[in-house]
Amino acid sequence: EAYRLIDKLEREHSLSLLEYKTLIEAENDALRLYAANKAKEQATLIYGNSVYVRGLIEVGNYCRNDCFYCGIRKSNLNCDRYILAEEDILHCCKEGYELGFRTFVLQGGEGIYKKDFVTNVVQKIRSEYPDCAITLSLGEEDRDTFKAWFDAGANRYLLRHETASKNHYAKLHPKNMSFDHRMQCLKDLKEIGYQVGCGFMIGSPYQTSETLAMDLKFIETFKPDMCGIGPFISQKDTPFKDMTCGTLNQTLFLLSLIRLIQPNILLPATTALGTIDPQGREKGILAGANVVMPNLSPVSVRKKYALYDNKICTGEESAECKDCLSRRMDSIGYKIVTDRGDIKK
Ligand code: 5AD
Ligand code: FES
Repeated sequence: EAYRLIDKLEREHSLSLLEYKTLIEAENDALRLYAANKAKEQATLIYGNSVYVRGLIEVGNYCRNDCFYCGIRKSNLNCDRYILAEEDILHCCKEGYELGFRTFVLQGGEGIYKKDFVTNVVQKIRSEYPDCAITLSLGEEDRDTFKAWFDAGANRYLLRHETASKNHYAKLHPKNMSFDHRMQCLKDLKEIGYQVGCGFMIGSPYQTSETLAMDLKFIETFKPDMCGIGPFISQKDTPFKDMTCGTLNQTLFLLSLIRLIQPNILLPATTALGTIDPQGREKGILAGANVVMPNLSPVSVRKKYALYDNKICTGEESAECKDCLSRRMDSIGYKIVTDRGDIKK
């Protein structure tokens, strides 16, 4: 039955909520391998053995939000706050460009910069590096702000939806955070013309096979260009510090299902996946992922961007991080490419 559902997903790229739920509950070693092989085949048909890289610049860890799972939540007084200046960001881009990165991801806590600051930095990166994609991941804003940043030259926006269940969303976030507004942001971003990435954690507290089925249905209907998923990993200074972490295996299975839902999707093997298993990112690629995001942030701030405990890549220089990932991808027969890495339509 479950195998039949994987075959159907491969063929039709769509299942009912109940079918998704059945699949999620049926996960075991054999089924996971079955799904991974089909997912990898789909990814290879479209992207070959190329893995796209994104230079991740963690621009700052101030945040206006208080998500229960996140280490940079504003109530965390143990978080050593920092914010990169414009020249720091531009320096990261320069270093990244020389290393062969053609996508820069500016990620930070929500509300960290004023609208005009971001507009200005994006304009500068755009004029300096016309052949690069600029990705922003700076949380929820109003439509005008998203539009101004797009007009300044940003191409992509990552905003994980976190869960497609409004009920579940309310258990992960304080009352002042709105599920509806977050979903509205994703729609606005898409309408404005961004390539949009959504995503969610695997094994977040109160997640169920139903909420995961809703996440898959959301991906199927919203059709994002990218989807970031990784295991929930508890962080010691948050309300969820004692909650069970997500698993490697469930994350790998979900990566494969997402690849089968949308064969051309850009799907990163995330740092969180590399954190719960030393070979997590390699395993992620072999389960259908096709993107990795080495850290380009200044070494001095890396430990401070602690969304969860024991995060990897907080020591190396950007060159080492890229070389490390190149070697890792080589070891499984894939190669990192110098390319903007746009979605293939
Ligand atoms: N474990 C794993 N992922 C986390 N994120 C935030 N906190 C954690 C955690 N404790 C993810 C969220 C957010 C992204 C930037 O990082 O999904 O959207
Ligand atoms: Fe950062 Fe390996 S990718 S050290």
